[in-house]
Amino acid sequence: MIERILPSAVMSSDSYGDPPRIPQDPRETLVVSRAVASRRREFATARWCARRALSELGVPPVPLLPGPHGAPRWPDAVVGSITHCAGYRAAAVAHAARVRMLGIDAEPHAPLPRGVLESICLPEERILVRDLTAADPDVHWDRVLFCLKETVYKSWYPATGQRLEFEDARISVDPAARTFSARILVASPLRQDGRPVNVLTGRWLAGDGLVVAAIAVLRAG
Ligand SMILES: CC(C)(COP(=O)(O)OP(=O)(O)OC[C@H]1O[C@@H](n2cnc3c(N)ncnc32)[C@H](O)[C@@H]1OP(=O)(O)O)[C@@H](O)C(=O)NCCC(=O)NCCS
Repeated sequence: MIERILPSAVMSSDSYGDPPRIPQDPRETLVVSRAVASRRREFATARWCARRALSELGVPPVPLLPGPHGAPRWPDAVVGSITHCAGYRAAAVAHAARVRMLGIDAEPHAPLPRGVLESICLPEERILVRDLTAADPDVHWDRVLFCLKETVYKSWYPATGQRLEFEDARISVDPAARTFSARILVASPLRQDGRPVNVLTGRWLAGDGLVVAAIAVLRAG
């Protein structure tokens, strides 16, 4: 599903279950050795997806260990992102020479638990969710907003080292095109042609009981 919203420079792989007996590097196994079985499974399957995607890039298999604040450490000159939720695991990777920032997220397509929307949205995003829900009540727009914000975080942190809070990005959505943009409301350390990069754009999709979103910022040229 994730590949439907990624550009061709990005390789991806996904899985709707946890295949048995996935080969795993012992250093990865150690990372989750004290975790519950479901966490060990999602960790292993997502890395299996990541290695399949890396092979499409021509990158040999390597252990994918967590780095600072949980972001995976990718091989040199590779950017990537991992997501997992109930019933879905996915990874996306690209050559850093072609893609500057990459983030993906998947969520169950169901309403957020009570009270969560209020804690993750700006006042104008609350209005956005209300208006989108009135126009298309079949989509759980609160969950879409959450998924978009997680995608912003997962593309922004590896590129900047900044840990965004939910109020640090303002989301707008084009429901017909299934695109979105995020204005970053804190000072950006990233520059493009001498100007700060403070708007990210991406794509999203709701279907098959899931919401998925992706941001892939391509390098010019
Ligand atoms: C890190 C976070 C974004 C992960 O999202 P999630 O929906 O909970 O979980 P997902 O399954 O989709 O993603 C988990 C994967 O994200 C990756 N990840 C974790 N921390 C990360 C980071 N700092 N940067 C990039 N990727 C990260 C990891 O690969 C992780 O899987 P793994 O531990 O098996 O390797 C989330 O837990 C979080 O901390 N959110 C709060 C911050 C936030 O979203 N702010 C909004 C800013 S607008």
